[in-house]
Amino acid sequence: MIYVCTACEKKMDDSPKPIGLCPCGKPLSVHYDWEGIRKDIDVKTDDNSLWRYKRVLPNVAQKNIVSLGEGWTPLVQIENNLFIKDETVNPTGSFKDRGMNLAVTMAKSFGVKTICLPSAGNAGVSAAAYCQKAGIDCHVFLPETIPAPFKKATDQYGANIVLEGQTISHAAHKMVESKEEDWFDISTLKEPFRVEGKKTLGYEIAEQMNWELPDVIIYPTGGGTGLIGMWKAFQEMKGMGWISGQLPRMVSVQSDGCAPVVKAFQAMEKTTEFWNDSDTIAFGLNVPGPLGGGWILDGLSESNGIAVSANESGLKDATVDFNKFTGINASAEAGVVWLSYQSLLKAGWINPLDKVVLFATGIERS
Ligand SMILES: Cc1ncc(COP(=O)(O)O)c(C=O)c1O
Ligand SMILES: [Zn+2]
Repeated sequence: MIYVCTACEKKMDDSPKPIGLCPCGKPLSVHYDWEGIRKDIDVKTDDNSLWRYKRVLPNVAQKNIVSLGEGWTPLVQIENNLFIKDETVNPTGSFKDRGMNLAVTMAKSFGVKTICLPSAGNAGVSAAAYCQKAGIDCHVFLPETIPAPFKKATDQYGANIVLEGQTISHAAHKMVESKEEDWFDISTLKEPFRVEGKKTLGYEIAEQMNWELPDVIIYPTGGGTGLIGMWKAFQEMKGMGWISGQLPRMVSVQSDGCAPVVKAFQAMEKTTEFWNDSDTIAFGLNVPGPLGGGWILDGLSESNGIAVSANESGLKDATVDFNKFTGINASAEAGVVWLSYQSLLKAGWINPLDKVVLFATGIERS
């Protein structure tokens, strides 16, 4: 296993110490010696957690794996060509559990005693749960605007909570100010393993569709780890010969109350610009300055994908519609997905014959 910088391409060897950003300040990506080598599909089919894809994950001692049973979630066929990946059934109610499982597992194997992160809500709940299970202290920095159920859930898992500002960006500044030297920062993309956890979404969709990928994947994008992870998984699988043919067109969807990725995509920029005065009821998408903006945009353009925004004023109703249609109790990020799916169908960007996967990334907390 080695780390490669996603910006300057510097290569760094694996070491027994926790790893953060590249010295140039950009995210590192994990790479393996098996990449690009053809091999038979190798899945631990008796494991119903994301560790069924152990062969393509970091090699870590079983005793250090901090699992709560995340992953291997249903891919529900709603209509002939329409599927929902239901991530609300993860242990703490969101797809964040995949990334936290890997980040906390690796931190534990490196001997980390204290972890910190800013969160828009679900990542903090998830980190708190995995840290509690691992016996690691956890400091979660949340915006003051956070709805009470997120705070309560984070608190119930024993994390220390600090509230600051209007968005995750303000909370992140506070964290950098108050962080002690030996706290390990697991902010989105500031360490490389949350992406490794999220990439299992791509492996699962492939396995659940019998190793034939859909035409389109619609993903509600905040920091972008899920999209980045899936795109990484597809490259890995292609390199091993597990899949062939056209890869899915990846779609980033955001609320027009906070749409830095959409704005940059439309302007054909290589990276995102900070979105001022962001506001949306899809709390996970209130990420005005994603560190991996450029990495998300690369995945969109390499896949012939697109980024679209949904009208904030229609989100509440769209979420209710989505939940009625699917029987899932998803949070407003699913409303963004639902509105965007309909507008892409209407615009003809999605053809009715296209196989489409929509994401329900998190549960509605009340
Ligand atoms: C429910 C939900 N959906 C989507 C996202 C965005 O995820 P990412 O930051 O991986 O883009 C989040 C992030 O907090 C979330 O909580
Ligand atoms: Zn670099």
